[in-house]
Amino acid sequence: MADLLIVPKGLERVVVTKTAISKIDGEKGKLVYRGYSVEDLASNLSFEEVAYLLWFARLPSSQELLEFKEELAAHSSPSPVLMDFLQAAPSDTDPLALLRTATSLIGMLEQKEVEPIQSAKSLLPKFPVILSSFERSRRKKETIFPSVTHSFAENFLYTLTGRSPSKELTSALNSYMILLADHGLNSSTFSAVVTASTLADYYSDITSAIGTLKGPLHGGAPSLVWEMLQEIGSKDNARAWLEDRIESGGKIMGFGHRIYRTEDPRSRVLKSIARKIAKPEVFELAEYVETTAREMLRKKHPERTLETNVEFYSSLVLNAVGIPTDMFTATFACSRIIGWTAHILEQLSDNKLFRPESLYIGRESLTIPSKASP
Ligand SMILES: CC(C)(COP(=O)(O)OP(=O)(O)OC[C@H]1O[C@@H](n2cnc3c(N)ncnc32)[C@H](O)[C@@H]1OP(=O)(O)O)[C@@H](O)C(=O)NCCC(=O)NCCS
Repeated sequence: MADLLIVPKGLERVVVTKTAISKIDGEKGKLVYRGYSVEDLASNLSFEEVAYLLWFARLPSSQELLEFKEELAAHSSPSPVLMDFLQAAPSDTDPLALLRTATSLIGMLEQKEVEPIQSAKSLLPKFPVILSSFERSRRKKETIFPSVTHSFAENFLYTLTGRSPSKELTSALNSYMILLADHGLNSSTFSAVVTASTLADYYSDITSAIGTLKGPLHGGAPSLVWEMLQEIGSKDNARAWLEDRIESGGKIMGFGHRIYRTEDPRSRVLKSIARKIAKPEVFELAEYVETTAREMLRKKHPERTLETNVEFYSSLVLNAVGIPTDMFTATFACSRIIGWTAHILEQLSDNKLFRPESLYIGRESLTIPSKASP
């Protein structure tokens, strides 16, 4: 006991590693990837450039970006075994469970030992195609394969709908993907890093991360936000609905954050995108719910700042670009995979196995009762 360090439950405010990938300033509401503010990245760069930045710690030259995009494009098409799996999946499969299983399947099929960065370049472009192919298959539509001339965000929407998306929707999805790409040592990233620290293969690391993203306290909230807005239905109904939820001890989805003690900077950008692309009546309702819930939560929890988190306006943006509601969290995974990968690479560059201890609080020194003789 003497030399054991007992830390708070949930590891709140405990630092377990160092990182040069992203910095969250929860007090000031700032998020930075490798020195660049996330707002700047989301409005000026492509998702591919940000993937390069996170993985290689600097922005690519135009030649490097071209080659990087070509490498990704070369790996984007699913193998016949993967296609069979996607087409055989029941139509009510949870898309995140599908993505998790597909990741594991791809890892199983990749026989040869390759560097994690190579596996990452192979897996990243397949993620949106896995979701689009499944969506089309469950709607009895033909698979659309990605176009080598399209960007990551463009291909996501193109393979989903079969039409080249407008610049506005592509740009909205591109910004969303950048804003969600990394966020310090969040729960799913921690999972990926713990798995990587055992020197497991890259696909196992990502499978662990996706499993962790599945919970509503982490990645599962945007579809719940959308469902909540649907249930509230109108401004007239909002106050009573929120009051009921808060007074009965329930959580308002898309509010609160473990680290931010002020507005989540990603929420601010997503709100401005939602204002442009969501249906006006949907945006108005969401904004009304935001203002009303904030006011009620302030009264209920004066000790804690509870503002909208990244998930609240994500739900409006994802809906407006045409992502099916049950694919919201899986779309989050298509973005966060680049952050997971960056942290896996960082962990492996200076690895130490994660192996905490638990404090035993069970009974001790029990004796097995003697069995009655037959
Ligand atoms: C994100 C979240 C898990 C952070 O949790 P946390 O840091 O552990 O925050 P706490 O649970 O300590 O919050 C402190 C208090 O505020 C309340 N609270 C936190 N978020 C709330 C919310 N969204 N709605 C209502 N009350 C909330 C808690 O119930 C707690 O109340 P208590 O002290 O009476 O028990 C939490 O805010 C939440 O569940 N939000 C809703 C789900 C969501 O949007 N998830 C996406 C996260 S990006």
